[in-house]
Amino acid sequence: MAPGVPGGPPALLVRGVVKRFGQTLALDGARLELRAGERLALLGPNGAGKTTLVRCLSGRAAPDAGEIEMFGRRLPRTGGRERLGFVPQEIALYPDLTARENLEAFGRFHGLRGARLREAVEWALTWTGLADRAGDLTKTFSGGMRRRVNIACGVLHRPPVLLLDEPTVGVDPQSRERIFAMLEELRDHGTSILLTTHQLDEAEERCDRIVIIDHGRAIAEGTLGELIESTVGVNRRVTLKLAEPGPPPEGFRARDDPREVTGEVEDVALELPGLLTRIRESGGRVSGVEVRAPSLHSVFIHLTGRELRE
Ligand SMILES: Nc1ncnc2c1ncn2[C@@H]1O[C@H](COP(=O)(O)OP(=O)(O)O)[C@@H](O)[C@H]1O
Ligand SMILES: [Mg+2]
Repeated sequence: MAPGVPGGPPALLVRGVVKRFGQTLALDGARLELRAGERLALLGPNGAGKTTLVRCLSGRAAPDAGEIEMFGRRLPRTGGRERLGFVPQEIALYPDLTARENLEAFGRFHGLRGARLREAVEWALTWTGLADRAGDLTKTFSGGMRRRVNIACGVLHRPPVLLLDEPTVGVDPQSRERIFAMLEELRDHGTSILLTTHQLDEAEERCDRIVIIDHGRAIAEGTLGELIESTVGVNRRVTLKLAEPGPPPEGFRARDDPREVTGEVEDVALELPGLLTRIRESGGRVSGVEVRAPSLHSVFIHLTGRELRE
């Protein structure tokens, strides 16, 4: 494996990629950068263009316009991607072959033979935690186990850049943990990973940086902190529940219920005690306090004006 050089060119650089399907503009000038050695989430609602973009990156679909570079080298519109691994969303395994036989078949497909093939298959069985099920037909596997084999089939040749399309859809929580542990192991060995997801928590907790895609365009890119700072700001949202309706404190306002007032606070530890004291001194009584940190959820709504699951 030859991972990218830190400070060198990005693993993938995508500029102005356009893809039409008849009247549908699936990609409308998408741009993103997958930095060497990072895990990047491509986050967006259904129909945003995630699958189309990773298919263009993988060379399975030809973009109508735009450029894709891998480690600083321009890629052809299709093909020419031996150093790139791709795990499609749909599971593609031979159900009547065992896990080991599936891995051997995909390893041959990736050009592995002899001792290299055997080593790669043994590595994959351990990596996926399926060594004890190696001789079982994959049709007897749970969805999560099949997903793990499917991911391994795309990684057997140990590509330095890996694309995964919704790798945890339809997967039980235990397999989901295992899949993220598998990806972390690859990342620790220098693999650059782009994964698509429509789940906020996966982007927020399991990735180094996030690209938000909507209507075929990448509308924001950065770490969670960068996205928060550039959109909703870093203030905490504080909601006070008042025992009796009363005038809200300065900077706070009631929405529907006059006993529930909300405001933004820059430094909660510093400002909240004084705020509560002032309310008490003016005869009010606070029955509950809720503090919410800005999240990817609030960033997403700020940028798109809607919830992710629509
Ligand atoms: N092969 C295709 N033929 C026609 N339309 C397509 C095809 N693939 C995707 N689309 C359309 O392109 C848009 C983006 O789809 P897709 O890339 O699958 O989004 P996502 O993966 O984010 O859900 C959608 O409007 C979808 O219906
Ligand atoms: Mg998709």
